Amino acid sequence: MKVLVVGGGGREHTICWKLRQSPKVDKLYCAPGNGGIAAIAECVPIKATDIEAIADFAEKEKIDLTVVAPDDPLVMGLVDLLESRGLRAFGPRANAAIIEGSKVFSKELMKKYGIPTAGYEVFDDPAKAIEHLRNGSFPAVIKAEGLALGKGVIIAQSFDEAEAAIHEMMENNKFGDAGKRVVIEEFLSGPEISVLAFTDGKTMRPMVSAQDHKRAYDNDQGLNTGGMGTFSPSRIYDEKMAEECMNNIFLPTMNAMNAEGRTFKGVLYFGLMSTKDGVKVIEYNCRFGDPETQVVLPRLEGDLLEIFEAIIDERLAEVDFGWSNTGCVCVVAASGGYPEKYESGKEITGIADAEALGDVTVFHAGTKLDGDKILTAGGRVLGITALAPTLDEAIARAYEGVKKVHFDKMHYRKDIGIKKY
Ligand code: AMP
Ligand code: GLY
Repeated sequence: MKVLVVGGGGREHTICWKLRQSPKVDKLYCAPGNGGIAAIAECVPIKATDIEAIADFAEKEKIDLTVVAPDDPLVMGLVDLLESRGLRAFGPRANAAIIEGSKVFSKELMKKYGIPTAGYEVFDDPAKAIEHLRNGSFPAVIKAEGLALGKGVIIAQSFDEAEAAIHEMMENNKFGDAGKRVVIEEFLSGPEISVLAFTDGKTMRPMVSAQDHKRAYDNDQGLNTGGMGTFSPSRIYDEKMAEECMNNIFLPTMNAMNAEGRTFKGVLYFGLMSTKDGVKVIEYNCRFGDPETQVVLPRLEGDLLEIFEAIIDERLAEVDFGWSNTGCVCVVAASGGYPEKYESGKEITGIADAEALGDVTVFHAGTKLDGDKILTAGGRVLGITALAPTLDEAIARAYEGVKKVHFDKMHYRKDIGIKKY
């Protein structure tokens, strides 16, 4: 089969790496791909958000399956567009991707169907939002309604901070149209867990759990980022919690989307928090998480292509796959300054040395090839990932890998996976 993966980050590198293990994949393309993906797939220089050009390419090359990995093209309707041209595509249609595309939609869905989440109010008038905050308690959670690269959430510790965030989002358009409406939420506390699940609208098959580290610096300091590192499994997500989530969150969400006429087919990502009142949903994503994918797919025992095909054909219940009883850790090497200003174009060395350690795979996020050199080309540059019999061994091995890799102003967290609740 000819397969096209849309996207160009660490998540897409991992998806391509796993698809390469499928005997059914003869030819693999990735648009736009990156410096690492280029070693295992043919990179096509089309932006993931240029959905017309992607559909044209898929049609021209007679692609058998297009896997749409990032949020923006899903929300923009790339899957619908491909289907309208008679092409097969993996991922939710736009009417289901809205579960991530609009925080107002997802909060209303959870309220309507009794799915546990933080209390909230929606504002489209900055003056009213500020008035609400003036009378509220802190920390306060302020979220831009739309897509903002995982950075549209501000946890304001004081009224001044909250007011500044409202001005930035609603008046200075920091996140463009995504910030025109905001959700102000009740602040919850507790450990976070990410559970990605395969679903075809009939069956829900959660993957192994993971935990992300969203803040830029050690001990969860600094700004929220797209994710600075992950590990799998979560240290707190046991069978009892999995059952609670299945009954109170996962199945109710699948059923709610069906009831709304928005059947979700693809990977549904549950961002969860284990609070004193039980597990609550912090966010939904309509796709594989990044960098969760980097620690979850290496544990998949099965053919990812077969799973994608089964989801499209609504026979997910029939596919045979499982998960290895291992630990997996991904440490993100970022450009110094990320998630704010950073420099690009720095030469990266040591990737082969890290991988030579064994059980270490370096997934590229923001890299590009320049002759035989690999240069940095983004905020999150690499995900140095280790798979080992236990989580603690995987952590040690991943950091051995990190020590081999160098580029100017490389920044990484030193505490990925370390915290024991
Ligand atoms: P989100 O993009 O919605 O996942 O939010 C990013 C991060 O902000 C989450 O991973 C949490 O760490 C934090 N966060 C979001 N909502 C809340 C909340 N209601 N209470 C506390 N922290 C939150
Ligand atoms: N790691 C969080 C996300 O993919 O949104």
